[in-house]
Amino acid sequence: MSLLSKFEAHAQIRDGLLEHGILPFGVVTEEILSPAEGIVGGQKTILAGTNNYLGLTFDPGCIEAAKTALDEEGTGTTGSRMANGTYAGHVALERELAEFFDKQYALVFTTGFLATMGLVSTLAGRDDVLLIDGDCHASIYDGCRLSGADIVRFRHNDPADLEKRLRRLGERSRNTLIVAEGLYSMLGDQAPLKEIVALKEEFDATLLLDEAHSVGIFGRRGRGLAEAEGVEGKVDFVVGTFSKSLGSVGGFCVSNHAELDLVKFAARSYIFTASPTPSVVASTRAALKLLASGSDLRTRLWRNATRLYDGLTAAGFRLGPQAGPVVAVFVDDPDRAIRWWHQLLDQGVYVNLVIPPATPVNSSLLRCSLSAAHTTAHIDHIIEAFAALSAGQRVAESSG
Ligand SMILES: Cc1ncc(COP(=O)(O)O)c(C=O)c1O
Repeated sequence: MSLLSKFEAHAQIRDGLLEHGILPFGVVTEEILSPAEGIVGGQKTILAGTNNYLGLTFDPGCIEAAKTALDEEGTGTTGSRMANGTYAGHVALERELAEFFDKQYALVFTTGFLATMGLVSTLAGRDDVLLIDGDCHASIYDGCRLSGADIVRFRHNDPADLEKRLRRLGERSRNTLIVAEGLYSMLGDQAPLKEIVALKEEFDATLLLDEAHSVGIFGRRGRGLAEAEGVEGKVDFVVGTFSKSLGSVGGFCVSNHAELDLVKFAARSYIFTASPTPSVVASTRAALKLLASGSDLRTRLWRNATRLYDGLTAAGFRLGPQAGPVVAVFVDDPDRAIRWWHQLLDQGVYVNLVIPPATPVNSSLLRCSLSAAHTTAHIDHIIEAFAALSAGQRVAESSG
């Protein structure tokens, strides 16, 4: 055994996957043609495994804003928000986020990961409890480790289990931060937010909601699941990212708790990393403005999501529980999932392959994600490519 021998297991997994040809993890998009299409393996491919939900990466207004910022402010800030890295654009973006979410305080981080990890690890400390949904993102788990708090998991999307655990905590529930996500990115299922909020009120706990995959998707103004469920006033802290519906990179937190303004003196992931570059800040501000203006992008996204969900259901696939920007296709056997992933790519369709141990369920997934930029023809092509897989399977089963 040596220091580096721990990587042997990774090498085995990688080499096994390489036997099938192109490596499904870290696929190279050789050319980006649009938010919905690229060249992969030398072939024009529909990108159905991104988080480009509103297709804003090529929005002319966002690109123009980024170019202007590059010209006027340069390529980077070369410093953290706490030192030299706060420009007027960062402050303006925070003001605009606070306005958009109708909250008093907003804080911008360099990535969504750093925002979530920073908030979780700073809000909860040694004498506190973190009560998290079992399917939470790695940034939440890493925040838990850094916090020094006691960590308790409740069963994914199970309010009865959450209640049981809150009850067990007794007086400590008042020192408890409940953490959940609006939309879970693997299965595309939504949190039972009204029930979670009712429990946090009953037990006098605090709630942090990660709306990374739900801002721009849910709610009349696109503010996320909390808006759609009418509970915005009762969610203490909302964290999110610019890297999905807003088409850039970066993270944020909004809240009415004045303490958010003090998190900047405590969160190491805010203090000890360079701030977002001016072009990123500028394109994010343009994207947020577009979202706030009530464009029809969300309507297009939902139309595509429903069409894909219905089409794959009709083709006989077992899917995640709800139609939405993420449509997860269950595949019982990981080898079949890997084979199907390659066959889809051959058909010009890129989706995300998710195999154990990375799956939240005891099954492999082909995770499709939708964009407002997909056309009806794209969606129909994806459905046909999947239908061809299952037809192949039926033939194989009847001849076997
Ligand atoms: C729930 C959740 N939180 C946080 C993040 C991190 O966001 P980013 O990739 O923008 O750093 C992700 C990214 O996938 C996520 O799914």
